[in-house]
Amino acid sequence: MLDELVLGVLERLQREDAEERERGLPPMERSRQVAATTGRFLFSLVAPQTDCEVLEIGGSRGYSSVWLGAGVRYLGGRVLSLEQDPAKAASWRQNVSEAGLADWVDLEEGDAFATLEKLEDVFDVVFLDAEKDDYEALFALARRRVEPGALIIADNVISHAETLGAYSAARQADSTLVSVTVPLDRGLELSTVLR
Ligand SMILES: C[S@@+](CC[C@H](N)C(=O)[O-])C[C@H]1O[C@@H](n2cnc3c(N)ncnc32)[C@H](O)[C@@H]1O
Repeated sequence: MLDELVLGVLERLQREDAEERERGLPPMERSRQVAATTGRFLFSLVAPQTDCEVLEIGGSRGYSSVWLGAGVRYLGGRVLSLEQDPAKAASWRQNVSEAGLADWVDLEEGDAFATLEKLEDVFDVVFLDAEKDDYEALFALARRRVEPGALIIADNVISHAETLGAYSAARQADSTLVSVTVPLDRGLELSTVLR
């Protein structure tokens, strides 16, 4: 549900991100959150699904988590977000709580590689938005936590084509997936699991 609490947090995070960019803060000190239109797109993918279990790899301060959590709140579901930076994780908790989404969205603080090794849950949607050099390895770990029909979404495949062009090519050459590059904002690779 996109109620006033959710919209208030999203608008504030958009404002803070714009201010940090204007001040010229280096990327690692910013939230590096998805564009607002990508947030809307993520929301639209999960809202129509019943009991949608979402895994987010790279939660930062919670901007995309809030979009995803507001989406799964319609027909039930849950978002598990992974974030290793303690300061970002603290902001994430505050933002998700302020958005009224703490019952739908959880954070696992720590290295996603370690978390994914020990996770036993199965997810319907995975959103991959961590360090670009890690996408292949993180995809391989996430692939073990999904079943046929699941969707794995990777951000930045166009903005970081020099690194992630190979990621898209590998997904599109994989006959166990149907994969398409969606040219929205920084570019999203949508890979549906066939088997
Ligand atoms: C691009 S930002 C995520 C932005 C977020 N999805 C949003 O739209 O609000 C990437 C985040 O992934 C986190 N990250 C990178 N590698 C990680 C890892 N191995 N384990 C957990 N978090 C990681 C970074 O600390 C950073 O906050």
